[in-house]
Formats: sequence, structure tokens, C-alpha cells
Amino acid sequence: MHTPVLLKEVIENLNPQKGEFFIDGTLGGGGHAKAIWEKIKPNGKLLVLDLDKSAVDRFKESILSENIVAINANYADLVSIISANDLPRVDGLLLDLGFSSDQIELSGRGFSFNRDEPLYMTYSEDEESVASILSRLSEKDLADVIYKYGDERFSRKIAKAIKERTQKESIISSLELSEIIRQILPKSYEQGRIDPATRTFQALRIYANHELDNIRRVISILPNIIASLGRVAIITFHSLEDEIVKNSFKELVDEKKAVLVNKKPIVPTIEEKSHNPKSRSAKLRVIKFN
Ligand SMILES: C[S@@+](CC[C@H](N)C(=O)[O-])C[C@H]1O[C@@H](n2cnc3c(N)ncnc32)[C@H](O)[C@@H]1O
Repeated sequence: MHTPVLLKEVIENLNPQKGEFFIDGTLGGGGHAKAIWEKIKPNGKLLVLDLDKSAVDRFKESILSENIVAINANYADLVSIISANDLPRVDGLLLDLGFSSDQIELSGRGFSFNRDEPLYMTYSEDEESVASILSRLSEKDLADVIYKYGDERFSRKIAKAIKERTQKESIISSLELSEIIRQILPKSYEQGRIDPATRTFQALRIYANHELDNIRRVISILPNIIASLGRVAIITFHSLEDEIVKNSFKELVDEKKAVLVNKKPIVPTIEEKSHNPKSRSAKLRVIKFN
């Protein structure tokens, strides 16, 4: 099961109150959603979304109240989702970005470079798979993606090796892709701190799921959906994501639409990092609308 990151800090700063309307736009294993529900129940309303249908289906099996609605959808489409479901302005919104441990362990969709699974790497079944992206992109565009979203200094070398393979046959499995990368990178890669495939996998996942676009889109609609005094909390795991959140929150503050709840991002304690290493790079930023 996915362990929710910064759970105590999210609840303290979002401060859900009995009877309020909350949205968890990235349901995952539902850990944050359940903690929010405990605070707003029984008369509050909770809308949860995930692009991954299996996460939504699993959560639906445990739903105990008609005041909880679970939808397989993109959080960037919240304006139309709220209006289609006749929902009011939102008292609190949580986005916990990226992917969950459940998706690595259970999805069979190729998120892990250590597993031999079909190379989809998409949360939604409707998106173009990474296998198809690797065949479609030119060597230069592929290198740019790996450099931009993975901060990978060997991006050109990796893109060249991938395209040499896809010109002969498609790369259809996650293990096949990680082996290609491992074979061409130096044995001393990052002094053994991370697997050589880590950055490329991250880059391809961000690109395939339009992750940065979705964050920009959802932040741009916040003034249209959040209630007066409503709170928005976003957990990022990557500096590109955090830059977008930090700068967009600053713009909302400069426009006098919101205030920062915490000046500096909240990061996990040493204790949390040691019992949940996946929380290591998490940063939580929270704003409150005027
Ligand atoms: C880090 S996990 C969330 C974990 C969750 N907070 C918990 O406590 O278990 C992120 C989830 O967001 C989903 N996701 C990613 N991008 C999304 C988007 N644009 N719209 C909806 N869900 C998205 C992923 O499928 C994944 O299940």
C-alpha cells in the first residue's frame, strides 16, 4: 500500500473542518483522502479524482458515504467536473503529484525500471504509451525530453541508443529499456547512488503524462473554483514541478487573490524520510484564498 507523504502536515495546513467541501485531485491509495474525510464527515463533501481507473475502482469499494464521489478524471479538468456534478466552490484542494507505490507494485504498466512489464508508463489507459513515444520521436526530440524532464547529462547518448534499437524493432518492455540505458552508461554513474535508468524513466513519465502542463492548467483555474478562505495544498517531488507551483502561487499572492500559508516549503522530517524513503524529495506548499 502507498504510504501518504507529509500526512500530518497536509492536514494541519489544509485544516479541513466539519461540513466543508474538499477535493483530493490525486487519489492514489486514498491515504490523504481518508484522513480529510475523517475531519469533514459526516456532512462534508469529498470529491476524489485519479487518472488511473484502478485507483478509483479500489477506492469505490471502500466508500461508506453518499457524500463521497470518486471519478476517473484529470484534475486539470476540474472546472467542467465541478459544473457537471453541480458542486459548490471548494473549501480545500489537495494535489499530491506524480505516481504512487501501488502503481509501481500493482499496475503492470512499466513504471519500474526493475520489472519486465509492457512499457506504457501512463496513468490513464487513453494516453499514448512510452513504447509508442520512443518509436515516434526523433533522436533529437527524445534527447531534449530526457534532458529537460530528467536533467540527464547523458541524454544524447541514451537517445541515440534508443533510436538505434527502435529502428530495428520497438522497445516494448520496461526492462528492455532499462537494460539499453545500463549498457551504455559508465559503471561509475552517479557513484552508484541511483540506477542509471532513473532519470530517463522519470523524464519519459513526465512527458507521457503531460505532468507539467496539467499542473499549469490546474493552477490557472484555481481562482474560478476555490471558495473565499479556501486552501490549496500541492506536494511536488521534482524541482521543475516545484518551480511552477512556487512561481504560480507567488503570482496569486502578488495579484492579492491569496496568501501563502507557509513562506518556505514544508519538507518531511528525518524520521519520515527514514521510514518512507520515497518521501525524500517531497515539498509541500499551501495557499489560502482571500
Ligand atoms: C503520489 S500518488 C497520490 C497518493 C495519495 N495521496 C495517497 O495518499 O495514496 C499520485 C496519484 O495521482 C494520479 N495522477 C497523476 N496525474 C493526475 C492527473 N492529472 N489527474 C488525476 N490524477 C492524476 C496518479 O495516477 C497517482 O495515483
